[in-house]
Amino acid sequence: MSDTPVQLIRARGLWKAYDGGRVTVLRDVSLEVQAGEVVALWGASGSGKSTLLHLLGGLDLPDQGELEICGLDPRVEANRLALRRRHLGFVFQLHNLIPDLTVAENLCVPAMADGRPARATHARLRDLAAAVGMTDRLGHRIQDLSGGERQRVAICRALMNGPRLLLADEPTGSLDEVSGETVFNLLKDLARREGVAVVMATHERRFADACHRRLRVRDGKVSAE
Ligand SMILES: Nc1ncnc2c1ncn2[C@@H]1O[C@H](COP(=O)(O)OP(=O)(O)O)[C@@H](O)[C@H]1O
Ligand SMILES: [Mg+2]
Repeated sequence: MSDTPVQLIRARGLWKAYDGGRVTVLRDVSLEVQAGEVVALWGASGSGKSTLLHLLGGLDLPDQGELEICGLDPRVEANRLALRRRHLGFVFQLHNLIPDLTVAENLCVPAMADGRPARATHARLRDLAAAVGMTDRLGHRIQDLSGGERQRVAICRALMNGPRLLLADEPTGSLDEVSGETVFNLLKDLARREGVAVVMATHERRFADACHRRLRVRDGKVSAE
């Protein structure tokens, strides 16, 4: 066995522009993320955090640069599909759950998309719901939950298929201070329990400081500080 850390993200010299090249958003961004790390992308609104997270998740492609996500080249469509179904989980600022469906039904969606058996799926969703204190809400519809509860469900959904990497884009950004703190702590605890690495975009210094490592995003550049 080697002690070499398992690299989940390897990004070298990423560039990204919008508007046919008129607006350059990312400039020569390089970073690495190892298994189990919790890394903050910390920066002001408009600094390029979401754009970078979208590249790191294979939701969008860089204009230039080298990128490997969980050992896969995201330029290959089949790899992007595999990343979304199995290797990665996403949590967004607004939960993106299906409001008319119950908590349990929402949690079944990723497992069904990956063709997983129902029995294992139900055991998994009960386990995750228990970990975030939502067991007694499994039969409730999303639209009847509070913002903090929705984000707890969103975290569970992102973890359903046992990813190695969780990408979170301002997951506490639309919550009040107390539920923001609760959601952040649950996300961190659950990631540790599951052995999942996290890359979290935030403009809040207190959350960035509570991660293992903080990367500053400023004017489309990323630096360790
Ligand atoms: N699809 C897009 N088309 C044009 N400009 C965009 C697009 N997405 C983001 N931008 C611009 O890129 C910059 C960075 O945005 P974003 O990555 O969303 O920053 P952050 O998440 O840090 O707030 C902003 O100036 C934003 O207006
Ligand atoms: Mg953003």
